[in-house]
Amino acid sequence: MLEKKVLSKRFGLVNPLSIKDYIEHDGYKNLRKALQMEKITIIDEVEKSKLRGRGGAGFPVHIKMMGLAKEASEVKYIINNADEGEPGNFKDRALLENDPHQTIEGMIISAYATGASKGYIYIRGEYNRAISIVKWAVDQARDMGFLGENILDSGFDFDIEVRTGAGAYVVGEEFALLESIEGKSGRTRVKPPFPTEKGLFGKPTLINNVETFCNIPVIIESGGKAYAKIGTASSTGTKLISLSGNVKNPGVYEVPFGVTLRDVIDILGGGVPESRKLKMVQLGGACGPIIPEFMLDMKIDYDRFEEFESKTGAGAIIVMDDRHNLFEILLRIVEFFGHESCGKCTPCREGHVQLERLVKRFLHKESTPKDLLSLESLARVMHQTSLCGLGQSSPISLISTLGYFRDEYHDRIEFSGGE
Ligand SMILES: Cc1cc2nc3c(=O)[nH]c(=O)nc-3n(C[C@H](O)[C@H](O)[C@H](O)COP(=O)(O)O)c2cc1C
Ligand code: SF4
Repeated sequence: MLEKKVLSKRFGLVNPLSIKDYIEHDGYKNLRKALQMEKITIIDEVEKSKLRGRGGAGFPVHIKMMGLAKEASEVKYIINNADEGEPGNFKDRALLENDPHQTIEGMIISAYATGASKGYIYIRGEYNRAISIVKWAVDQARDMGFLGENILDSGFDFDIEVRTGAGAYVVGEEFALLESIEGKSGRTRVKPPFPTEKGLFGKPTLINNVETFCNIPVIIESGGKAYAKIGTASSTGTKLISLSGNVKNPGVYEVPFGVTLRDVIDILGGGVPESRKLKMVQLGGACGPIIPEFMLDMKIDYDRFEEFESKTGAGAIIVMDDRHNLFEILLRIVEFFGHESCGKCTPCREGHVQLERLVKRFLHKESTPKDLLSLESLARVMHQTSLCGLGQSSPISLISTLGYFRDEYHDRIEFSGGE
């Protein structure tokens, strides 16, 4: 079996609106267990598990947990990042809509281990169904004594508030998210300090993704060492993949790290329909690299993906068949990020306007050799100098195609009329 259902094992089995269903399927059992453990032991188990964040950057989870635990502040926050605004990603929505208590349980355990007393779940505004389900689940958890004061007679107090965004992609970036919860417009902050030192309302804050928190009860149940046996040496556990584009069976699939892209596309996704040829695949979402067919034997693994300047933790795979024009795809991506740029820094604000102009020249076969040089250097400058991850990662798709699909650029250059 290619799929390994660990986080998605209750999908379809439990009614997401019923906390009783969740409890009957081992729900909140691991919170009870964690409340009997030393706080440092919980963080040790997370370290042994080698869990890395599932929101995109793949940062080791125990380091942030330990960072928060060490802070002496009376007030500390836990934030669950459910903004999921990147085109091609929809796995957090599946987790929230099918099994909302799992990520809530992970938050409560994390709060107990780190000494946090207040949590926020920040869900993108378009996710109406997920918002209603999660609000209902939080209320139920409070009614049953899993949230609020003196949780399960442990003397530990923690509560969760659900906040919704207005649909700006950049607000998924952790600093912009903090600003948004504080009631300001969603723009990043200059760092350091990092959130675990100075986060929400200036207090130490732990921010993790929905899927990351879902892994915490699993680690408490099995122990970190056993958990680390799933997946590969550098990427442990399972990954929820959002598979979309030209495949017969698009959807969310949970696989152990280490399976190949080809197996996910061909076996789980059923391959490309209508006997068309696969032309290219975009990894991670709109900000990820676009790779050709011959690279599909690559394993899904953080370290392997990072070789392609890609942080692919969010796990989108977008398949495109041979009908697609590379430059139409790139133009859509550049337009999207230009629209979503918050305007705070020059490389991203001005760079997207110029990228769009240059990509259009290639699309309309009006480009010159100088355009190719300008496109390449501009994309690299934006990647290296933008203030936050939006501007740093938006040119990655373009940069990858300058390597893998360079012939297509050359085919569109007008040599005779060069500038
Ligand atoms: C532009 C931008 C958008 C992001 N959007 C999300 C998002 O929607 N969800 C998410 O979990 N992380 C998102 N991130 C990553 C967060 O900044 C942060 O790294 C993450 O929430 C940390 O959680 P993790 O360690 O569990 O992955 C985004 C980053 C950038 C730069
Ligand atoms: S990179 Fe873009 S989104 Fe990020 S701060 Fe700069 S202008 Fe804003």
